[in-house]
Amino acid sequence: MNILNYSHKIILSSEQIKERVTELGRQITADYEKGDLLAICVLKGCSVFFADLIRAIDLPLTTDFISVSSYNRKKSTSEKAEIKHDISMPVREMDILIVEDIIDTGLSVSRIVEHLKEKGPGSLRICALLDKKDARNPSCHVRCDYTGFEVPDKFLIGYGLDYNEKFRNLPFIAAMD
Ligand code: IMP
Ligand code: MG
Repeated sequence: MNILNYSHKIILSSEQIKERVTELGRQITADYEKGDLLAICVLKGCSVFFADLIRAIDLPLTTDFISVSSYNRKKSTSEKAEIKHDISMPVREMDILIVEDIIDTGLSVSRIVEHLKEKGPGSLRICALLDKKDARNPSCHVRCDYTGFEVPDKFLIGYGLDYNEKFRNLPFIAAMD
């Protein structure tokens, strides 16, 4: 499976991503200076962004990982996203930052928010590298506290995002035709 065999267009270069991740890291560092930050990576798509973002945050933060069932949420709107792998530590009174690669329909992140709220954190915010605002499911009222880029409602690959589990390792983000 070679990227060159697929019609694609690079929409964000690795330089653009790097610059924006640095800015997000600075902003988060300033906002959580007095907090007890727990950054939670939503697997698997967010792994690449997460690794870069936490190194751009200058705080003694804690990390954890969570995953939700993945299926085509646009086709099965009635199905609720299920927690597949839960975080591994108590979070009571901690400042949680959910880190997502992309918010599309918003169903995954809404489920994660609902799930983590039950654990009684001190605060809970969302950081997403990409936001497909026009693709939001009408039942989802998620608001992103930190957004890297707003992107068109197209299928994207690279920098953690996959097509059939491939292309996560591309250093840029491309739209597939
Ligand atoms: P949502 O539940 O529809 O918001 O979908 C969120 C998840 O679907 C993301 O965390 C991604 O893993 C995946 N996803 C959504 N859009 C894309 C895309 O364009 N390319 C690859 N994965 C995507
Ligand atoms: Mg994801």
